[in-house]
Amino acid sequence: MSNIILIGFMGSGKSTVGKLLARRLGMEFIDLDDVIEATCGMSINEIFRLHGEQYFRDIESSIIRTLLPSLKNSVVACGGGVVLRDENIEVIRDHGIVVYLRITAEEAHKRLMNFNNRPLLNVEDRLSTIKKLLSIREALYRKASHLIVEVDGKSPEEVVDEIVNLIGGTTR
Ligand code: S3P
Repeated sequence: MSNIILIGFMGSGKSTVGKLLARRLGMEFIDLDDVIEATCGMSINEIFRLHGEQYFRDIESSIIRTLLPSLKNSVVACGGGVVLRDENIEVIRDHGIVVYLRITAEEAHKRLMNFNNRPLLNVEDRLSTIKKLLSIREALYRKASHLIVEVDGKSPEEVVDEIVNLIGGTTR
């Protein structure tokens, strides 16, 4: 079975859905943000605070480039900004079926309300920042993905069902 690579904005459920999907299909689950934290020995908040976003993006790209080619039968949850570099889009498309979990700004805002572990959202007006980031990224998520699943108002299980149905119709 090809790898399944989940992309989408923060709060779209990549990690939650990814774990359930992997269990359902008997695949491994890998969360790239966890790999980055383990590699650096610090949280994503700390990486941004101590080294800045570009440093984080360099680590993210380097892990994608080295890890993805070695994976088989895995569900991979990517960080929301993975599509910001063209080279990353190329690598993820080459190593699995890329599924875009599409969320609206309002729903992402609601879901992330009680979290402070997203350094890009440690700002005063979160909803405007989410809208701005999404408007830049929407076209990139579309370009990077093979399949799109709308997640607003759906439970993780419902999203998993949709992915399984959609993937059943693609070549593996
Ligand atoms: C980011 C998303 C985060 C994490 C980092 C940057 C982004 O991952 O990689 O905070 O630029 O959208 P999640 O999408 O898993 O929250």
